[in-house]
Amino acid sequence: MPGKPAVQIAPAEGKLGILIPGMGAVTTTFIAGLEAIKRGLGRPIGSLTQLGTVRLGKRTEGRSPAIRDFVPLAPIENIVIGGWDIFEDNAYEAATKAGVLEPALLEQLKEPLSAVKPMQAVFDREFVKRLDGPNVKPKGSKMDHAEMVMDDIRRFQASTGASRLAMIWCASTEVFRQPAAVHATLKDFECGLQKNDPEISPSQIYAYAAVKSGLPYANGAPHMTTDTPALLELARNRNVPLAGKDFKSGQTFMKTLIAPGLKSRLLGLSGWFSTNILGNRDGEVLDDPGSFRSKEVSKSSALEYILQGHLYPDLYREFYHKVRIEYYPPRGDAKEGWDNIDIFGWLGYPMQIKINFLCRDSILAAPLVLDIVLFMDLAQRAGLRGIQEWLSFYFKAPMHAPEVYPEHDIFIQLMKLKNTLRWMQGEDLITHLGQEYYD
Ligand SMILES: NC(=O)c1ccc[n+]([C@@H]2O[C@H](COP(=O)([O-])OP(=O)(O)OC[C@H]3O[C@@H](n4cnc5c(N)ncnc54)[C@H](O)[C@@H]3O)[C@@H](O)[C@H]2O)c1
Repeated sequence: MPGKPAVQIAPAEGKLGILIPGMGAVTTTFIAGLEAIKRGLGRPIGSLTQLGTVRLGKRTEGRSPAIRDFVPLAPIENIVIGGWDIFEDNAYEAATKAGVLEPALLEQLKEPLSAVKPMQAVFDREFVKRLDGPNVKPKGSKMDHAEMVMDDIRRFQASTGASRLAMIWCASTEVFRQPAAVHATLKDFECGLQKNDPEISPSQIYAYAAVKSGLPYANGAPHMTTDTPALLELARNRNVPLAGKDFKSGQTFMKTLIAPGLKSRLLGLSGWFSTNILGNRDGEVLDDPGSFRSKEVSKSSALEYILQGHLYPDLYREFYHKVRIEYYPPRGDAKEGWDNIDIFGWLGYPMQIKINFLCRDSILAAPLVLDIVLFMDLAQRAGLRGIQEWLSFYFKAPMHAPEVYPEHDIFIQLMKLKNTLRWMQGEDLITHLGQEYYD
């Protein structure tokens, strides 16, 4: 029987407005997916909030409700979308150019997609070198731009009548940067916005505007945005949840499936070489070394953390890990990834595993966007603030408290996510001990 819920969750009443910087392949596949699902033209495959269940109590109790019946989530029908992009294409035109979904499906969704028109973007070519576009905000200081985004947020809420809002970054990957002096405190950051500090990126301007306006903020790309003391401080002050970063959708998803398995059997690793080809706009942006560096860093850490070479020096101390991404236009969004994994077993005898994943980047990412925004809205209504580590399941480089290492093992991440839902609703946490069945 459920105990007392750990938190009070406000009901998911009214519309939920999702605001998205970047209306490219992932965003338009997400929006078109929502519209297709609402019309019965497709199913939300890949989405835990829509198709997942959560076991409650003992196995003998037979209680496994759908997650969306167990915790109050906004229904898809109540979602309204707005966004920003440096290009003027509406979501129908952008989806057509992205070429992820069949033209015949997009034609059936033309009306709702055409209605989603991007607002003017905050953009700086210093942070995304391979792109330039006309739909940008007028000149002004970085603080002026943050104020303009806050105005956009207010206007969007007024025009849609949304009762709650959340923001998720699905725009291009910005160049790699480390936190600078301007990120040390909120005061430094606000001063930096006024003085146009070159270390403040567009994504940080959107995030500042979102959090300052009380919106949860999630980062789907690998660059640094809210992982700074300044924005963490703002999120704490405003009681706002944060999550990130970099959707764990393709090759790293595979990595975090396989690596825990090798470790569970104490099979050693001498090398892991990952490469992939992709030809969408994301691939073009990642062709720039600065943006690639952001991705490389976020993709590289998972193996080290999962395999814990310091605890298993014979098995994992010295493996060679290399990650490549090749921009190859003919392939479009249909990315192909190869992994060559050199492992060793009993008495050190070598073996190999090859993975050839012929995936579709945005088809894998769209359900993650849906789950993340619904869970961020839940977190907000449950009064959770700051880093939402229970959403690590969705990210390649999960945000985490400074005193702990990030959890990358996807099975632990899923258990953590479901235990968080149980905890919220006052259900027993599942330990998988099971001794009671054998008394
Ligand atoms: N499976 C996946 O697709 C996947 C996985 C992990 C991370 N990501 C990340 O998600 C993001 C989106 O991927 P995508 O395939 O849709 O890319 P995309 O290139 O199709 O779309 C990104 C859009 O962002 C716009 N943009 C760039 N800077 C902007 C700014 N400052 N403000 C507003 N708009 C801006 C671009 O014009 C473009 O339309 C990328 O950062 C990508 O690295 C994607």
